[in-house]
Amino acid sequence: MLPCVIVVFVLLSCACGENPAVQVILTNKGLQYGKHEGTGWIQEKLEQITFPDISGSVDIHIGRVYYTLSGVTIKKCDLPEPSVEFVQQSGLTTSIAGLSFALAGEWRNQFGVIHDGGSFDMAIFNIDVTSAVKLGSNAGGRLSVTSVNCKASVGDVSMQFHGGASWIFQPFVKYFKGHIIGIIQSKICPEVEDTIMNLDHHLQAMNVSFDVNKVLSFDVPLTGDPDIEPSNMKLGFKGEFHSIKTHAEPPFVAQEFVLPELAGYMLSVGLSEFTLNSASFGYFSAGQLQAFINDSMIPPYIPFRLNTSAMGGFIPQLPKMYPGLLMNLQVNARDAPMFSFQPGSGVLDVHICVKASATESNGTQVPLFTLYIDSRFTGKMMIADGKLKGSMMLNNVTLTLGSSEIGDFKTDALENGIKSGMVVVLGKLNAKLGEGIMLPRMKHAQLVNTVLKMQKGFVGIYSDVQILQTDRSSYLSTSYL
Ligand SMILES: *[C@@H]1O[C@H](CO)[C@@H](O)[C@H](O)[C@H]1NC(C)=O
Ligand SMILES: *[C@@H]1O[C@H](CO)[C@@H](O)[C@H](O)[C@H]1NC(C)=O
Ligand SMILES: *[C@@H]1O[C@H](CO)[C@@H](O)[C@H](O)[C@H]1NC(C)=O
Ligand SMILES: *[C@@H]1O[C@H](CO)[C@@H](O)[C@H](O)[C@H]1NC(C)=O
Ligand SMILES: *[C@@H]1O[C@H](CO)[C@@H](O)[C@H](O)[C@H]1NC(C)=O
Repeated sequence: MLPCVIVVFVLLSCACGENPAVQVILTNKGLQYGKHEGTGWIQEKLEQITFPDISGSVDIHIGRVYYTLSGVTIKKCDLPEPSVEFVQQSGLTTSIAGLSFALAGEWRNQFGVIHDGGSFDMAIFNIDVTSAVKLGSNAGGRLSVTSVNCKASVGDVSMQFHGGASWIFQPFVKYFKGHIIGIIQSKICPEVEDTIMNLDHHLQAMNVSFDVNKVLSFDVPLTGDPDIEPSNMKLGFKGEFHSIKTHAEPPFVAQEFVLPELAGYMLSVGLSEFTLNSASFGYFSAGQLQAFINDSMIPPYIPFRLNTSAMGGFIPQLPKMYPGLLMNLQVNARDAPMFSFQPGSGVLDVHICVKASATESNGTQVPLFTLYIDSRFTGKMMIADGKLKGSMMLNNVTLTLGSSEIGDFKTDALENGIKSGMVVVLGKLNAKLGEGIMLPRMKHAQLVNTVLKMQKGFVGIYSDVQILQTDRSSYLSTSYL
């Protein structure tokens, strides 16, 4: 029995011991900004609350009056800024103190055989609500939120009746006010808990895998519970790309890394080289890393034609054996190109195989030779002016002759030719990378003050977030755009 239990534990700990390849830290600064921006939204939501009818009775010495308050609508809501705090290894506590409402509605009452009615104004003062939620993760890797504690109290209620014999009832407000306060008080926490459950339902319905394009899907389930401290909340995600077609697992795993905290930012994101390498492996395993190149595909800025006479400069026997023929190249990645990040820069290793053929005038393909090309590139990435920019440099190219149908030949000249070709292509690429690409921008938020730091094994991105107030106050959004 015991050995089985141990085996189960070992298996479980293997499944859970996966290192997150993407880490996100939400700092207290981010939480406070989100709360501040969210307060207006909460106020809007509060103003849409529908109040249930309130019924009761009160003894006015000469008999019992039955009353119903209905059609209650909110005229005004005064929401002081709530406080929100991270709670160590648990979740969040939110409290609102001094919330007030002005309401209006209809009153009806019955005293013996007398039925009467009219309208009323009501003010509810000093509502205090404290709600504590626990944040966790479920088996599917989704964030979960559960209410662990809720307290609500209502300070006071004042009412003004209009119409009918309201002047008779007005003096008795003090007798049934307590009942009304009790009813309102008892409705708040169930309402809060419903909202939290609703939020949890939304979270449980969220996808933890997305199709990025026709080739790749991106898996981002949580790898464990959120790690919560008073100053921040850390989330770890799997962050792995897969080929949609093969769904093959890469032959490497995510290495552990520690995303250093950088004070003063709302949000930090750590992206490990594993994430990029899993994308590269996904493309490779889907058979996407191959290309067929013929003469018409050589960009005009490269001063070289893909034919046997032009090739004669590198392989003297070729134009003699096959004069005046066009050539083509079948290029395949021999394995997935691998990224490795170092402080300040990154390295990309690419290993390809090139099969060269000549095309006879009747269309027959004549195999010529197979080359292995191993190249290493170094790159830098940075974020400036809200754009991701970069540059790439060729470190090293090695060329080896795999097989040849045209006899042996020296590869030095060809290696130099390829090097020059790559330098020209990189020049074009760097011009594009230097222009940069805009940082992704969501409908309601954008990143500002963003910095990127390349570290050993990962890149750290530190940023503030600016919420775009497109919905509530469109005049504000114009100043942000
Ligand atoms: C979740 O994924 C499924 C299948 O990939 C898709 O049909 C659905 O629309 C996605 N849902 C959301 C909310 O993105
Ligand atoms: C090169 O390949 C493309 C597409 O495969 C084709 O349209 C073009 O005619 C080819 N050019 C030559 C010179 O064979
Ligand atoms: C081969 O390339 C050379 C230039 O490198 C060009 O002058 C020649 O016309 C090309 N021959 C064919 C058959 O395309
Ligand atoms: C194409 O031409 C070459 C020589 O020019 C010849 O050896 C080959 O048999 C021909 N192929 C076909 C299918 O006609
Ligand atoms: C060139 O690349 C090979 C592997 O492809 C590597 O062993 C060698 O150290 C590299 N040389 C330099 C100068 O980077």
